[in-house]
Amino acid sequence: MTAATRPEAELNILDPDTYANGDPSTFGLPLDYFDYLRAEHPVFLQKLPEDPLLIDEVWLVTRHADILAMDRDPSTFTVEDGPINVWAFTMGGIFGKPGMLNFDGDRHRRQRRIVNRGFRPSSVQKWEAKFRQYARRIVDHVLEQGAFDFVEEVSHRMPALALGDVLGVPEDDRRQFFAWMDMLAAPFETRVTRSVEEMLQALNNLIEYCRSLMQLRLQEPSDDVMTQMALAGSEHNLSEDEVIGNALLLVAGAAESTRTAISHGMHSLLQYPDQMAWLRERADDIPPSAIQEMVRIATPFTHLVRAPTRDVEIHGNQIKRGERIAMLFVSANFDPDAITDPRRFDLGRDPNPHFSFGQGPHSCLGKHVAASEIKILFEELLRRTRDIEQTGDVAYVRDNYARGVYSLPVNLDAA
Ligand code: HEM
Repeated sequence: MTAATRPEAELNILDPDTYANGDPSTFGLPLDYFDYLRAEHPVFLQKLPEDPLLIDEVWLVTRHADILAMDRDPSTFTVEDGPINVWAFTMGGIFGKPGMLNFDGDRHRRQRRIVNRGFRPSSVQKWEAKFRQYARRIVDHVLEQGAFDFVEEVSHRMPALALGDVLGVPEDDRRQFFAWMDMLAAPFETRVTRSVEEMLQALNNLIEYCRSLMQLRLQEPSDDVMTQMALAGSEHNLSEDEVIGNALLLVAGAAESTRTAISHGMHSLLQYPDQMAWLRERADDIPPSAIQEMVRIATPFTHLVRAPTRDVEIHGNQIKRGERIAMLFVSANFDPDAITDPRRFDLGRDPNPHFSFGQGPHSCLGKHVAASEIKILFEELLRRTRDIEQTGDVAYVRDNYARGVYSLPVNLDAA
């Protein structure tokens, strides 16, 4: 473990303001503080700011090796019966609609197998052709504008269009669908979600929408994940609540995270011109390492929560059965004991054992879809531009779980 200086002021790692006020020169993250925690407090009890949306306290685990061991041991560290993050509510808890991320063991494996049917290679191939069309459409639009907010015009639009196809949301409904989703994904950000009531209303609307979409897809099956889940439901493998729970999981997790990776990825390219030049040279076929590095520095979800199924001791800390433990992915992704020279934004990095997609039985089911969207988008963008320049400050979303970028003003010159 590398030596780390004790920070002057104590920082609350799970305060939404910690990320809202992040330092853009360190990817918006308190990297010195993470170094200090990994060295001095690999496990500690973090009190959360008083907020009805947050649980009171959580054990934080900060080292890559410890998180890897936990994530891969669901019989000791379960996701069941509790929130998956430090928010005080879960979709399962409030509305009785649990998805696969709320279960371990056989129930998890069964749901994961069924939803995975929606990601068949033939579907993915069709989606990729559509992703290319969407990326071209987005680039056409921003080329006309010249100066614009990258987050609004590019990062928001690509996953919304792409996931519309993946989930099977008809084009006319997508604007409303993703407006609800945005509120759900950013409950602490008053520029997006004005009140808790508004967020709960959005969640309710999404549940009702997913219910009717499920019926639609039973009548008009298509190449999408909702069709596969609805068909599985009708074969009695998946209850209506399970279909809706998994649809909500995709809605809540898939678009926001991809958008975040695109935004942080672009911001880092703007900050490191050598990496921008490296990527431009490879814009005809961007290598996987580049996408993985963008996803690492973005770490779209700062943490996920587990609870021990028995009393455990980690680095001298006694943690009781049922207490909450947050695996701080965002710290693991900058742990020098696992990632060489972690503060370097290095698009050729290989290996890159980052935690942004998780590494255990719940590891992201959509990671290939996300990587494909990001690759295609940057290929189109870089091929058709000569220069992209940042024209104002980056602003981050106020949240402690989904580490979004709120705005990133840029100007571009056509190739
Ligand atoms: C850059 C984009 C994305 C990131 C960073 C991301 C991250 C994650 C993480 C951290 C988990 C939980 C891992 C764990 O608990 O160990 C997860 C699970 C999941 N993700 Fe993603 N995700 C992304 C995009 C997507 C997309 C595009 C989809 C679907 C189209 C998707 C579908 C899922 C599903 C279904 C699960 C639950 C898997 C399970 O419980 O077995 N994700 N994702």
